[in-house]
Amino acid sequence: MELKTNADSLRGTIKVPGDKSISHRAVIFGAVAEGKTTIDGLLKGEDVLSTIQVFRDLGVLIEEKGDQLVIHGRGFQGLTAPSQVLNMGNSGTSMRLIAGLLAGQSFEVTMCGDDSLSKRPMDRVALPLNRMGARIWGQKQKHLPPLTIKGHRHLQAITYRLPVASAQVKSAILLAALQAKGTTTVIEKDITRNHTEAMIRQFGGQIAIKGKEISLTGPQRLKGQKIYVPGDISSAAFWLVAGLIVPNSDILLENVGINPTRTGILEVIKKMGGQVYYDHVDEKEQVANLRVRYSSLKGITLSGALIPRLIDEIPIIALLATQADGVTCIRDAQELRVKETDRIQVVTDTLKSMGADIVATEDGMIIQGKTKLHGTKVSTFGDHRIGMMTAVAALLVSKGQVYLEREETIMTSYPEFFTDLERLCRG
Ligand code: S3P
Repeated sequence: MELKTNADSLRGTIKVPGDKSISHRAVIFGAVAEGKTTIDGLLKGEDVLSTIQVFRDLGVLIEEKGDQLVIHGRGFQGLTAPSQVLNMGNSGTSMRLIAGLLAGQSFEVTMCGDDSLSKRPMDRVALPLNRMGARIWGQKQKHLPPLTIKGHRHLQAITYRLPVASAQVKSAILLAALQAKGTTTVIEKDITRNHTEAMIRQFGGQIAIKGKEISLTGPQRLKGQKIYVPGDISSAAFWLVAGLIVPNSDILLENVGINPTRTGILEVIKKMGGQVYYDHVDEKEQVANLRVRYSSLKGITLSGALIPRLIDEIPIIALLATQADGVTCIRDAQELRVKETDRIQVVTDTLKSMGADIVATEDGMIIQGKTKLHGTKVSTFGDHRIGMMTAVAALLVSKGQVYLEREETIMTSYPEFFTDLERLCRG
């Protein structure tokens, strides 16, 4: 498709779509809790639709009632063996979290995914789950999908120090631990998003959290709940950056989730000198309206424990850095190499092809600021966040056109992205 270029300003109000991480977990916990769970604000992106379909394949009744999703939970013991391979589409979160859940079941299943997911390492979940007594195997050394799981009803509790900072791996182990006998302890490398821990509590489970150490004693039973999913800060991030770099912009983003394990991007924007304000905060629900205005920015260094708190926002932060004054260095972000694409390589190649001055390093990028972008032909390479970053970058292009291939992949996390973009351009 041809992307919109040369925007004069972005103005207006956007209600960002539901949080992807929380939506997946709401469906998963709703399915294994006992009784009815209702979910409002759910993201209806392709990734979450994959999770919903998988639970239907596992025998769970899930109904759409208007905007609300109603799940008739069957308890940990109530899932049934699927008659086909479970298709996780593009979703690493679905495959890794559901692997943890199925590790404790008594049947054998195979999970597959699209081309991108088929290249993502599953050894990081296979290893700890095998130690708990399941048998999980994939392709080659890294256990690439398709992944086969032979679950075990009597899993053993383990103590596991995570070798990578990954909420998906932590969550997979916790989902298995809820079915295992005894106390499982997970020790995080750095603190990552805590939605699984929060949801275990919300569904009536018991979990102890002491800094990076998380313990739970199984087996546990969960009870159906009413869940409200806040807007996704990782989707809001595209408008935060667009508002900061397109002259004369002023955008209000409503209902954005501000769980502190996810708000690294707000700290980065502040440190770069960007104007972002909390317009309204609901502390209890951890949501806020955020207002962003066009700003002059300076380059900074991003590294260490901050990285997992903004891992999905790094592609759009890289674009932000191309417009700041001075150099921005991103370090300790080697995990980007195993996302939907190798995001260090793809972000660097894409922005370079549009005229940016950016160098890939083993674990990040070095980006020179104040560069002018120009038209070109690019692809999402099947990565939704690359597609949205390119669409925001195109707004700055004053000469030439930007053509984006495989744009349909944006449906993964933000089906209304182009409608919202048009609305902001109209002002
Ligand atoms: C997610 C965790 C992160 C993130 C992904 C969603 C989750 O992945 O990048 O988009 O919902 O748990 P890792 O666990 O691989 O860091």
